[in-house]
Amino acid sequence: MKKTWKTADMRSEPTMRRRDEKTELLFPEMSENPWVTKPGKRTAINGRRRMCGLRTLELCAGAGGQALGFEQAGIEHAGLVELDKSACATLRLNRPGWKVFEHDLNTFDGTDFKGVDIVSGGLPCPPFSVAGKQLGTKDERNLFPAVIRLVDQIRPKAVMIENVRGILDAVFIDYRLYIRDQLKKLGYKAGWKLMNASDFGVSQLRPRVVFVGLRDEYAEQFTWPEGDGEPPSPVGRKLYDLMSANGWKGVDAWRDQADEIAPTVVGGSHKHGGPDLGPTRARKAWATLGVDGLGIVDDAPGPDFNGMPRLTVRMVARLQGFPDDWQFYGKKTAAYRQVGNAFPPPFAKAVAENLRLCLTRSRLVRLAG
Ligand SMILES: C[S@@+](CC[C@H](N)C(=O)[O-])C[C@H]1O[C@@H](n2cnc3c(N)ncnc32)[C@H](O)[C@@H]1O
Repeated sequence: MKKTWKTADMRSEPTMRRRDEKTELLFPEMSENPWVTKPGKRTAINGRRRMCGLRTLELCAGAGGQALGFEQAGIEHAGLVELDKSACATLRLNRPGWKVFEHDLNTFDGTDFKGVDIVSGGLPCPPFSVAGKQLGTKDERNLFPAVIRLVDQIRPKAVMIENVRGILDAVFIDYRLYIRDQLKKLGYKAGWKLMNASDFGVSQLRPRVVFVGLRDEYAEQFTWPEGDGEPPSPVGRKLYDLMSANGWKGVDAWRDQADEIAPTVVGGSHKHGGPDLGPTRARKAWATLGVDGLGIVDDAPGPDFNGMPRLTVRMVARLQGFPDDWQFYGKKTAAYRQVGNAFPPPFAKAVAENLRLCLTRSRLVRLAG
């Protein structure tokens, strides 16, 4: 049986929970999703896996959360495309060997990547998020057309795109079917699945929709990943060493109060402005964990600090599943935006592991046949 755990989101955001239930009722898994969910063969969360010979072109790579997850699953990067200067600097800082293209995806030419195994990416969420007003195809930030163009150019074995759960809302059904049909014409079978980062060891709920498209000859072998049922650490335990780094005397009491996983980290958009942990509703959820979500600070609280501490960029990065040695280029606002936008590496790794299994298994089946 799966263990359950409390989340600050659930306790303080009943309206969000209702939306989830509605989404699941309206779109039962099989209606737009040809694959079942099964645990993949998983490796340790940290550390690189032996490379398996598969390569991906990562689109809208941001700070590299998803790219790191793919690397941990043993998948190499043929290239990474990203428009934001600071995010590109972050990618180069952490992985000088990665080929980073600071380029607009709308005009990126994929010709040189013909035959790459996977096209993966985390597209900007505002066109489909409630906070972004769900303008969908009318939003100039919608990059699905660019992805379809690149898939046509590159013809990878698999496509994998991460987005917000808003894309599963009823208003986008025609658009989802349009994407599916476009890919079908190119010879791919496609499906969407809503999953939570907390199922993959990440200390926040962070529901995210993953879209997978597989060329027909690989489609049989794919299954969605499933977490191992182990509850992730509550915020207090996860951040204890960072929060106590400057000798804060109140840290033990804080750890005991912060006994749940975090609300979904938000606040990563340019329009959002300075770094804070999100709108009023999110900040209320943070307050139940004894965290002041009104801003991000440079340092952990000092010995005699009184009140609710704010988080540092490093603390939020850890809650997003980044290892502590992953650096973020830029000042606080730019760095926080990159962290807030990321697809948690352990979650990305779980999806990438199942893609790897699917593509390598299909290769073996074909060789045996
Ligand atoms: C959701 S974030 C990606 C997060 C990333 N997958 C990660 O795990 O760290 C979306 C990214 O798309 C980038 N982006 C937005 N518009 C773009 C465009 N036209 N071309 C390329 N990148 C773009 C943003 O700068 C942002 O980093």
